[in-house]
Amino acid sequence: MLLTSFRRFFVTQALFDTMPKRSLISKTKEVELEIEGLKFVRLNPAETQPKVSSALAGKPFLPGSTSRGFPEVLSPPTETFPHAVKIKDPHLHPFSKLVDGCRRYITDNLYRYGAVLLRNLPLKTSNDFASLCQGLGFQAMRYEAGTVERKRVDDSDTYTATDEPPEVVIDFHNEMAYSPSYAAKVLFFCHQEPGEYCGGETPLVKGADILSHLDPKIVQTFDKKRVCYVRCAPSKETGLYLPWQDTFMTEDPKIVEHFLRKNSFSYKWEPSGTLIYWNVLPAFQQHPETGETMWFNQIQGHHASALKDNPRFKDSNLPFDKYPYHTYYGDGSEIEPVVLENIRAVTWSCAVGFRWRTGDVLVIDNLAVQHARMSFTGQRKILAVLSRN
Ligand SMILES: [Fe+2]
Repeated sequence: MLLTSFRRFFVTQALFDTMPKRSLISKTKEVELEIEGLKFVRLNPAETQPKVSSALAGKPFLPGSTSRGFPEVLSPPTETFPHAVKIKDPHLHPFSKLVDGCRRYITDNLYRYGAVLLRNLPLKTSNDFASLCQGLGFQAMRYEAGTVERKRVDDSDTYTATDEPPEVVIDFHNEMAYSPSYAAKVLFFCHQEPGEYCGGETPLVKGADILSHLDPKIVQTFDKKRVCYVRCAPSKETGLYLPWQDTFMTEDPKIVEHFLRKNSFSYKWEPSGTLIYWNVLPAFQQHPETGETMWFNQIQGHHASALKDNPRFKDSNLPFDKYPYHTYYGDGSEIEPVVLENIRAVTWSCAVGFRWRTGDVLVIDNLAVQHARMSFTGQRKILAVLSRN
């Protein structure tokens, strides 16, 4: 199945490269595209790369960073990844026209590049961002059954990207890959950029690049066995991490059970009030637009070894099944440490990190691209909308 998928990937890319541009788009300069009077100027990597590359090998609170083959530093962005553009003279256009232009631009470019970074939009608040997402036609979804702390920032489904401690590096993942109701796209808004030398990148990596560098035996094993995601959610009164009431944004167990049944999770309540729920899912998904089979999972990010490298659990020495979340092979057996090391080293080796600027909007094709978060110092505020379409 996978060999066919790789062939289809290359054929699809070749087709993209020879496809004529839509008639609405005229190429006025080598790096400038115009959509009905709105100009998009390509940013070169020098304009989006951080002043210094973030160190990776041996970094504290970065799972797997001391293992063999882990890269020394996070690579800078490339000419095409993420695909970065700046909107020229945005103040000359009404907001509705900016939204229309961006919608067309994203439609034309997202599946080709996997991630589109839009700079220079006149967005200041979470409401501005929510309005943009709505205007772009994205259907925001609730962050249910999640595995990081994040808060809703207003009545819309806009969330803080994560409230995990700043010193933690959040490992790579496709958003909500542990659920059959995963996000199709993820939109991030940089409400406040991190300081120049303070980290805080949102690293990106293409699933196709991971697949082409992973040990083929690992790929075959996951193709055959799939992935079992287990979540152990305590009750809020315990004061423990990630209680089910926060995870499902309700105090009503019946609502939780309804969600779990609807999404094919198995679950059980323990006498202590802890909820355990789990799901066995493929490590791949077929992309609904391109037909490609994508590496789509949270194998390493959902694995308890990621929490062993989290300051909340420092020196706790719990067995893996006592952590708030854990990942097994689909047959219930433990994933070997060497397999996790390979996945982490390959993923970080293929990844890039760009420099956030206040007002940036990043649109990610969640099927094609995994994201992570570098640790940071000082202030940084990134908001997120998860889109079902
Ligand atoms: Fe995420």
